[in-house]
Amino acid sequence: MAGYDHIDSPKEVDYYVDDKGNYYKLHNGVDIINVTKQFETKDGMVQALNPVSLHIRDKEFVAILGTSGCGKSTLLRMIGGFDQPTTGSVMFHKKEIHRPSAYIGMVFQSYTLFPWLNVHDNIAFGLRQLKKHTPSEINDIVHEYTELVGLKGFEKKYPKNLSGGMKQRVAIARALATDPSVLLLDEPFGALDMQTREVMQELLLNVWQRSPKTIVMVTHDIDEAILLADRVVVMTSRPGNIKEIIDVNLERPRNWKIRNTEEFLKYRERCSELIRQESMKLIQTAS
Ligand SMILES: Nc1ncnc2c1ncn2[C@@H]1O[C@H](COP(=O)(O)OP(=O)(O)OP(=O)(O)O)[C@@H](O)[C@H]1O
Ligand SMILES: [Mg+2]
Repeated sequence: MAGYDHIDSPKEVDYYVDDKGNYYKLHNGVDIINVTKQFETKDGMVQALNPVSLHIRDKEFVAILGTSGCGKSTLLRMIGGFDQPTTGSVMFHKKEIHRPSAYIGMVFQSYTLFPWLNVHDNIAFGLRQLKKHTPSEINDIVHEYTELVGLKGFEKKYPKNLSGGMKQRVAIARALATDPSVLLLDEPFGALDMQTREVMQELLLNVWQRSPKTIVMVTHDIDEAILLADRVVVMTSRPGNIKEIIDVNLERPRNWKIRNTEEFLKYRERCSELIRQESMKLIQTAS
């Protein structure tokens, strides 16, 4: 099974037992074990994910690439505890994830700001929930992240007065501000123009290097995946499972200049080829 140790005996203390009695060794970080997802719709059952198994190491940066509809957001939502697998299990530090929690931050694919809160209060929201900081500490943290995402001066604005890209930057600041152990990013820079996108990619790299955390990022941008990630997981078209896992052995710290190196081009070529194969399958199935 891709990316997984399947063990035969129950001797291990930290293991998961599936409903067929198979034992799986658990690790620190995120363990995705034989996860499937089906949705009931009025047109019948949709199989979004075939069994997916993957161990995401503690403080690892993983990017997920795949054709539209292959189940990337579904997988991310299950890691975040926003949805449950139909079969299989998602674990964090050897404990099953049942619901959203403070140690996992998520930036959703669509903007999910609270429309009745201004930028400052949107970013402060998670921090206030944590009840770990004084109001003055919260203000300092909010200022730091507002500045980091380039929204200084917009603190009093409400989401309806912000562009799509600005809203997404508030969502990113909100997720970063609580300093979660796991950060889940669903196409976080999709709505940004090229220049802002590149600035945000470097910003994310800097934040991650300064305060290492496990990051799982869904993107359609192959260069973005290679620039940022330790591993790129390429999924098959729906029902999604893992097609290939690519170790990105590029030196860190990285910046955009790395895109011109021969090594980078090789990774790009490989990822493009894999995505192209899956896109072709989609087209053939549709015709
Ligand atoms: N709540 C739901 N009810 C029914 N079907 C769903 C639901 N959520 C997702 N699906 C279906 O599951 C499949 C996977 O959806 P998902 O949103 O995870 O894809 P994705 O890989 O994130 O696509 P994209 O790249 O377009 O964002 C799709 O066929 C989608 O229509
Ligand atoms: Mg999606």
